[in-house]
Amino acid sequence: MRNTINVGIVGTQFMGRAHSNAWLDVGHYFDLPAQPVMRVACDNVAENLPPFQKRFGWQDAETSWERLVARDDVDLVDICTSNATHMPIAVAAAKAGKHILCEKPIALNADEARRMLEAAREAGVRHMVAFNYRRVPAIALAKKMIAEGKIGRVFHFNAVYYQDWLVDPNFPIVWRHDAKVAGSGAHGDMNAHTVDLARYLVGDEIEAVCAAEEIFVKERPTTGGGRGAVTADDALYSLARFRNGTLGSFMATRFATGRKNYLRIELFGSEGSLIFNLERLNELEYYTRSDDRAAQGFRTIVVTESVHPYINLWWPPGHIIGWEHTFIHEIGDLLLAIAKQEDAAPDFYDGWRCQLVLDAMTRSARERRWVEVAD
Ligand SMILES: NC(=O)c1ccc[n+]([C@@H]2O[C@H](COP(=O)([O-])OP(=O)(O)OC[C@H]3O[C@@H](n4cnc5c(N)ncnc54)[C@H](O)[C@@H]3O)[C@@H](O)[C@H]2O)c1
Repeated sequence: MRNTINVGIVGTQFMGRAHSNAWLDVGHYFDLPAQPVMRVACDNVAENLPPFQKRFGWQDAETSWERLVARDDVDLVDICTSNATHMPIAVAAAKAGKHILCEKPIALNADEARRMLEAAREAGVRHMVAFNYRRVPAIALAKKMIAEGKIGRVFHFNAVYYQDWLVDPNFPIVWRHDAKVAGSGAHGDMNAHTVDLARYLVGDEIEAVCAAEEIFVKERPTTGGGRGAVTADDALYSLARFRNGTLGSFMATRFATGRKNYLRIELFGSEGSLIFNLERLNELEYYTRSDDRAAQGFRTIVVTESVHPYINLWWPPGHIIGWEHTFIHEIGDLLLAIAKQEDAAPDFYDGWRCQLVLDAMTRSARERRWVEVAD
């Protein structure tokens, strides 16, 4: 068996950097049967490539993703581009027999996601969607505690995801404002994460949703000095009903003035509750009804003990980790799945299921009514 795996990455900016950091670091902390080689980086903006290669050590460069996926010296394609490119790159990569890591949201819509899933399954390659928040140790611990029955039957899953970078009406138009390139705005960007966490933690599918969306600033300056129409939502809020009777709520906005990347989830159950806030990602709040009544109350678990998920890779208790570690965990788990010839998780099936919910929420908002999630 080869003891290396050659990686080609597409996209060199925000996620390109976060993933590159993880590709560089993963072999230093995970015990990997095959070490990743940062073989080739791709961007259609040619001037992005030299500084990116220099900073992270990518050996070679391409300006066309079609050429990258066709290369014999690439085993795995890491898709870090804007959303409209995910489907064509992933389908071509699968057809070329490459394993795939794809950023979220998986695609522009569920039909595209389904095509990606089918192509990957047909090719027999491993596939993962970069829902990195599953790899926060506190979230993985919450999953374990829920599976152990610590909070009993889950009545409520509530998620808010607040950012404020669009409050300034003079913030210029970027691809994230264009529905043709992004699919949706705050919704696909932020609710994609929380819908995935809901499926992961509640352990069941969402069957119906009722949503409202808004574009608060309808036009923004373009970099060329003109004005452009905003076609992707600034915010989308939704109620949800799970098959098992859990009730959910999802709020995503880029207009939560003062909130930078505030992702809070709450699970209220028959035996206890769990609360997580990404801006305090080493912590998990836990309430249990089994405590002596006089001493009951939420406690804060600092998730840095060696018994906690992923922590044995890192530092002694109390030596906290950060947001970038979630990508190292994700890529480490993907490489282990490839080595063990097992399915990765979350995979394109999860990406597709998440997208079905996101699409139903958008439809609900447009049609101003409850919508069943397609199956
Ligand atoms: N997991 C997370 O927490 C997280 C956070 C931010 C963004 N994302 C997702 O990651 C993806 C990328 O977002 P980003 O913030 O890095 O965007 P970005 O705008 O910072 O970078 C996108 C990159 O893709 C390149 N690109 C676009 N079209 C291309 C093409 N046809 N061929 C080659 N390169 C092309 C751009 O030149 C740029 O380098 C999106 O799907 C986004 O939703 C995920």
